[in-house]
Amino acid sequence: ALLCCGGAGAAIGTAWTRADTDTVGAVDFRNAVRVPPLATSRTDGDGRRVFDLTARAGRHDFGGRTATTWGFDGAYLGPTLRAKRGERVVVNVRNELAETTTVHWHGMHLPAVMDGGPHQVVTPGETWSPTWRIDQPAATLWYHPHLHGATADHVYRGLAGLFLIDDDTAPGLPARYGVDDVPLVLQDKSFDGDGLDNGGAFLSDVGVLGDEMLVNGVRAPYLDVRTELVRLRLLNAGNARTLNLVFADARPFDLVATDGGLLDRPHRLTGLLLSPGERAEVVVRVRPGERAVLRSERPDRHPDGFQGRFQGGSDRFDILQVRAAGTLEPSPPLPAAFGPVDLPDPAQAVRTRTFDLSGTRINGANMDLGRIDVAATRGTTEIWEVRNRDGSPHNFHVHDVQVRVIDPVSPALSGRKDTVFATPGQVLRLAVRFDGPADPNVPYMYHCHVLRHEDNGMMGQFVVVEPGQRPGTPPRARHDH
Ligand code: C2O
Ligand code: CU
Repeated sequence: ALLCCGGAGAAIGTAWTRADTDTVGAVDFRNAVRVPPLATSRTDGDGRRVFDLTARAGRHDFGGRTATTWGFDGAYLGPTLRAKRGERVVVNVRNELAETTTVHWHGMHLPAVMDGGPHQVVTPGETWSPTWRIDQPAATLWYHPHLHGATADHVYRGLAGLFLIDDDTAPGLPARYGVDDVPLVLQDKSFDGDGLDNGGAFLSDVGVLGDEMLVNGVRAPYLDVRTELVRLRLLNAGNARTLNLVFADARPFDLVATDGGLLDRPHRLTGLLLSPGERAEVVVRVRPGERAVLRSERPDRHPDGFQGRFQGGSDRFDILQVRAAGTLEPSPPLPAAFGPVDLPDPAQAVRTRTFDLSGTRINGANMDLGRIDVAATRGTTEIWEVRNRDGSPHNFHVHDVQVRVIDPVSPALSGRKDTVFATPGQVLRLAVRFDGPADPNVPYMYHCHVLRHEDNGMMGQFVVVEPGQRPGTPPRARHDH
């Protein structure tokens, strides 16, 4: 009840303060990072790739610290699902928790009824089996609960995993999973006795800002590598904290993909902002025997000129030590280009909508599971202007689609994006194309991915309709009150 529907939490939050965290130089990297296992799958009689995913409670060893947690097929986080464009998949999502949850496929283009948003609840003991055809370019996506009012709690306890999509393009990037193509699920946590802190931090306006950084559920992690180039698939799976990623020695790296897939070409950067929910793939070069530390810096230390504020911006973290072997396997050089990116064309836009983010609301309204906020026509493109009208940083995530960020322009915002950060006062201009399928009754979500904000109501619902069709009425979720 504490987590539902705001109000009391905000009041407690204003009284809750914490000291700045600075772990730079203080982390003794002593735990080998685990790589999430690839989920096994089978093919059913219809040729569909079938995965099983079970949410349950357990105890997880984070490396020198054990806590009660939730996970998929294990005590914490979940296996990496992997499928290819054109394949049909089924995921049997079984809920062995004591409470209702959902599983949302963040970044996936799929029918709304399969989306795993707050309407597709999975009650304790139940199995939900969404099925869809993978129909989008290769990308690093992820999955996590989306129960309205409880998303922050369920994700924080450990329910999250990666969903990688492959396609037929061979971009010439390192691609050996866990060897030179390594997923890194980044999360800040606070420990409290033998649990994760669900106390004061959880009740602040922002939500949890942990005082430790975990990678794939491991504290003080190092990653052994044995190739000259290493591809890191970064996911910010934190509840609230935006990360400002740099290497401690300021070495450059190449950004090759953002949320929804490859960029047009590698972009050489020295820093990268990653807000909750966002993904980025970077390729970094190492020299034999060296150690390179991935760090999150304060905003004023962002080398690429970021102007603004973000959640947790007064903190600095040493996140991961990359340990290069004494002898490295040569890697093929990075290609100069990856080819065209499938993006909406703003010149085709049929209308512009504005979304003002302020307090716990979008356009003055709190999330209502029974209200459709937007009906977009299948096959059309729209401009969505997202305005942060608040003193607080937010970001904006849209289900089902991958948008083109028209403004602001930067390498980190290029390519196919589903989650975009907005510092106070900032206006984002997005081109959004609704490819369908249409379903006037089942909505997709758009929302702030600071999970406390989302739970408190900074979320809206859109349906995709056929030309001339009217939006219907969403079936109110069973848990709604
Ligand atoms: Cu990653 Cu609507 O969520
Ligand atoms: Cu927000």
